[in-house]
Amino acid sequence: MPAPGPLLGLAAALGLAVGGWFFRSNVRLHGFLRKLLETIRSFSQGDLTARIAVPRGREFDAFAQSFNRLADRLAGTIQTLQAGRNQIEAILESMGEGVLVFEPEGRLLLLNGAARRILAIPRPVVPGASVGEVLRDPDLQATIRRTLQGGAGQELELELYGAAPRVLRVRALPCEVSGIGRCALLVFHDITDLKNLEQVRRDFVANVSHEFKTPLTAIRGAVEALLDGAMRDPKAAADFIKGIDEESQRLSRLVEDLLALARLESKPEGLEREPIDLEPFLREQLNRFERSAAEHGVTLRLESVGEPLILLADRRGLTQAVGNLLDNGIKYNRTGGQVIVRAFSAGTGIRIEVSDTGIGMPAADLPRIFERFYRVDKARSRRSGDTGLGLSIVKHMVESHGGSVQVESRLDAGSRFTLVFP
Ligand SMILES: Nc1ncnc2c1ncn2[C@@H]1O[C@H](COP(=O)(O)OP(=O)(O)O)[C@@H](O)[C@H]1O
Ligand SMILES: [Mg+2]
Repeated sequence: MPAPGPLLGLAAALGLAVGGWFFRSNVRLHGFLRKLLETIRSFSQGDLTARIAVPRGREFDAFAQSFNRLADRLAGTIQTLQAGRNQIEAILESMGEGVLVFEPEGRLLLLNGAARRILAIPRPVVPGASVGEVLRDPDLQATIRRTLQGGAGQELELELYGAAPRVLRVRALPCEVSGIGRCALLVFHDITDLKNLEQVRRDFVANVSHEFKTPLTAIRGAVEALLDGAMRDPKAAADFIKGIDEESQRLSRLVEDLLALARLESKPEGLEREPIDLEPFLREQLNRFERSAAEHGVTLRLESVGEPLILLADRRGLTQAVGNLLDNGIKYNRTGGQVIVRAFSAGTGIRIEVSDTGIGMPAADLPRIFERFYRVDKARSRRSGDTGLGLSIVKHMVESHGGSVQVESRLDAGSRFTLVFP
């Protein structure tokens, strides 16, 4: 029988060794689980680079490697998804059109910056808000409901009232979003400028028709009177024919001015720029109006330009612009009045100034005189047979050269128009 002492000692040593191994294993397992937990926590909190670090060949190495590979794949997928989402968000944000998407329950799923701006959706309204919280308009709310309930796409126009009224074109389309179901996609296009332009065009056509109708009616009246017998009375016939002559001249002036405007509007292709020596050019313009000035008892004066001033401009356009200013300066003047033309360099540019000692204009009219067909004194200008297009031709001409036109005027004292070329 061996002595129990050594056996016991052996058993105790073995027990201690096994116990120690278990203990150490347990500690390592515990350590590994803690690392695993920390890594999962970091990963789920958005740190896609979080991995378990276990030295190769150690216990749990295979497990850690599998986990890290899984994490790699997951991180790759998440990054791809995020990149896609960022791209879509960037596209949506850079769009000029407002975009809103509502999910099947009628809650806001997505909106872009343009939608917020166009519809003035306040900041507190975020995805999750109900249709009623996002959009006030009942027609629009009904459209969204119909679209969500299976209706086909629709288009409608919406007028927003307020400090700056706007007109919107809205397209409502059904869309399928995976995992969510049938949604309603709304695209808002601000067409206020387009509508205003349409109105300007309609007004223009109406004005042109009216301007044509007046002389045509006069011509037809005169012709009828001649046919009805006035022809046989030489004195009356001469008067009617003179009237026809004046009205037809007015018509051709109107056509010429309209063509000039059309030519300047089709810039810059319609322009032929060339160097123009302003001193001889302006002298020539004054000569053209010498007779008209004499008829109105007005004197024309060109202030010496001094050094040669060369302007790169479309000769036809400049001739029309300066001519229209001279014509106005003479016509809206008084016997004994003056029209003075100056040209000078200012900074890197050139200015041409036409001032007169004429009747001037009330300050209230100044902002509108460059509009087509706008006249300060409606009756007077119609009588004198002017077209009301002169100043809008001037404005278009300078602007098509990158410049601008300025006006200063005092009633009963005179006016000064300045063409500013850059
Ligand atoms: N130099 C000026 N002095 C006073 N009024 C002017 C002058 N130039 C223009 N206006 C006013 O501006 C209006 C618009 O001018 P314009 O476009 O040339 O049209 P039009 O001369 O054919 O009437 C004129 O009807 C006139 O009332
Ligand atoms: Mg005029």
